[in-house]
Amino acid sequence: MKLFLLSLYLLTAISFAVAADLVPRNLTLQVKEDVKPPRGWARLRRAHPSGNIRLRIALYQQDFAGLENSLYNISDPDHAHYGAHLSIEDIAKFVAPHPMTLTLVDEWLASHGINESDIVRSPAKDWITLTLPVSRAERILGTEYYQWQHTDGDILVRATAYSLPQYLHGHIELIQPTTMFRRTKHRARLYPEELEVADSVTTVNQPNKRVDYSCQNAITLRCIMQLYNAVGYKPRATKKNGIGITGFLGQNANAKDLNSFYHEQLPGAKQAEFKSISVYGTVNNQSVAAAGEEANLDTQFAFGISYPTPGTFWSTGGTPPWLPDDHTPTDSNEPYLDWLDLVLRSKHIPQTISTSYADDEQTVPFTYADRVCKLFAELGSRGVSVIFASGDGGVGDGNSDPSTQQCDTNDRKHSRSFLPGFPASCPYVTAVGGTTGIPEVAATFSGGGFSDYFPRPAYQDQAVNSYLGKLRHGTYDGLFNHLGRAIPDVSAQSRKFQIVWQGKRITIGGTSAAAPTFAGLVALLNDARLAAGRPTLGFLNPLLYKQGEHAFNDIVKGMNPGCGTPGFNATTGWDPVTGLGTPDFKKLLKVCV
Ligand SMILES: *[C@@H]1O[C@H](CO)[C@@H](O)[C@H](O)[C@H]1NC(C)=O
Ligand SMILES: *[C@@H]1O[C@H](CO)[C@@H](O)[C@H](O)[C@H]1NC(C)=O
Ligand SMILES: *[C@@H]1O[C@H](CO)[C@@H](O)[C@H](O)[C@H]1NC(C)=O
Ligand SMILES: *[C@@H]1O[C@H](CO)[C@@H](O)[C@H](O)[C@H]1NC(C)=O
Ligand SMILES: *[C@@H]1O[C@H](CO)[C@@H](O)[C@H](O)[C@H]1NC(C)=O
Repeated sequence: MKLFLLSLYLLTAISFAVAADLVPRNLTLQVKEDVKPPRGWARLRRAHPSGNIRLRIALYQQDFAGLENSLYNISDPDHAHYGAHLSIEDIAKFVAPHPMTLTLVDEWLASHGINESDIVRSPAKDWITLTLPVSRAERILGTEYYQWQHTDGDILVRATAYSLPQYLHGHIELIQPTTMFRRTKHRARLYPEELEVADSVTTVNQPNKRVDYSCQNAITLRCIMQLYNAVGYKPRATKKNGIGITGFLGQNANAKDLNSFYHEQLPGAKQAEFKSISVYGTVNNQSVAAAGEEANLDTQFAFGISYPTPGTFWSTGGTPPWLPDDHTPTDSNEPYLDWLDLVLRSKHIPQTISTSYADDEQTVPFTYADRVCKLFAELGSRGVSVIFASGDGGVGDGNSDPSTQQCDTNDRKHSRSFLPGFPASCPYVTAVGGTTGIPEVAATFSGGGFSDYFPRPAYQDQAVNSYLGKLRHGTYDGLFNHLGRAIPDVSAQSRKFQIVWQGKRITIGGTSAAAPTFAGLVALLNDARLAAGRPTLGFLNPLLYKQGEHAFNDIVKGMNPGCGTPGFNATTGWDPVTGLGTPDFKKLLKVCV
């Protein structure tokens, strides 16, 4: 399938040599993409024809390879261009579509009565956004939109296939939302046995340990700073630096809760303030009852660790209100694209961004995963460190009970496979796994493994091959892709986090806790670089794998079971459970600044 698309593209590339007028316009629709809906989705009813849907059309880019090459140059500490981050205009030079593509696509849109004034283009013109009634989208794309319901209740408006005239197949890479049945889940988990109000934080020092004894049972900001060797660092570049947290699925970050959290865990901190940015009208609802555990966890630890670095919280893709009307246009959003579109248009972006949401990679159509991943490459090339939770299903799916995980592949063969999480599996982001306890061991749920979509990037080849060399020959053959991008890259504490939620103290965990924790420390590293007059770290992985190995606490105990197997083992050096290990801030400062 992929090869087929590629050859079509090459054919079209050749036809670029001729004038657009000479391209024969055969308007017969041909299937561009069709998918089998992932497990758990049932078709309900046709979407209402007059409900609006916001389509995003991705045009083929001329030179993503050039952008990738540039990203690797500017992220390689030994390269002359290290830290020479790109502007919106620099990026556009690489990813802009060929003029012929623009001509043909514009003409096709016009033939459907769609004008320039009806569409919004990305700065590089490689994405077109337009909102139109479902009935028109169906006619243009030769498809039918239905409401689909997941077994856990979520409803999406999606199609299982869509079509375009053949001559456009080599110009339009994908159109969403169509075939993307997202199951984007936030990864924070409440531990039922720990839900009761946590003990008041004692600070009995354990002899010969720089970490408070209480940190065994309750992770606070102070524990993180002690454990990761960041006590006493004072941010100095708060006028330039920033840290951002993404919120999806209607998760609201509550400012009053953040304030109470600071009151308890960050004595001396002033009134908690952060900037809320609404993406496509989703607001950060400050009603106490609307506060989200995930959003509160992410903001409290990321902003608390990096305090007083200015924080930003984006609210994207809330759960739409359910109206008891058969024809309610339910969720037809595509939240990652909505957020990326907005943030990549901004001149100033917080230099560290953490996201604790994920889908099982195999439930995401390859074309979609690939283009979204390329947008993360753009963020990295702008100088942003993009951080994702690696997932909470060990080597399996997001189902927290490993014994009931279903690891059938989603293709028609129903073979079994480990299930890495996306976007963690994108090679241009930093994936954070989970640890627990002191001394630290791997958390059993720590998402880890190998992408089935993205080949292994050169920066991690050596570390990952060294791990694979230690695996007994034949281990888990057929269950994972030995040549894939491997996750996680790093890890951090992920259980027993003490946060404030809806006015109460609760205990919470998951790689959802690990990602903002790691991000908070990265924001401090970026602070140190800015204070020294240097550019921010941007895309971290090439630096971390090349020079960072000894700036991490190697985690060598534990494993990440899933899919009915014991999973991988944490070992000396990189492993697909805890990556390079947990950060040692002082050592990282030496490496990074
Ligand atoms: C247009 O394409 C369709 C499908 O490939 C084909 O059957 C048809 O003959 C073509 N029409 C012309 C005028 O070439
Ligand atoms: C990346 O660096 C290499 C080697 O220094 C250079 O040849 C290449 O042109 C650079 N790529 C970009 C896009 O700047
Ligand atoms: C497109 O623009 C033309 C001229 O500006 C206008 O007459 C027409 O109504 C527009 N079509 C749509 C669909 O908005
Ligand atoms: C905010 O959340 C509260 C509690 O869930 C809800 O009653 C209220 O309608 C929400 N406000 C908005 C503007 O969505
Ligand atoms: C994990 O370690 C155990 C104990 O040493 C060993 O038996 C097992 O084969 C290892 N598993 C993997 C996947 O390496």
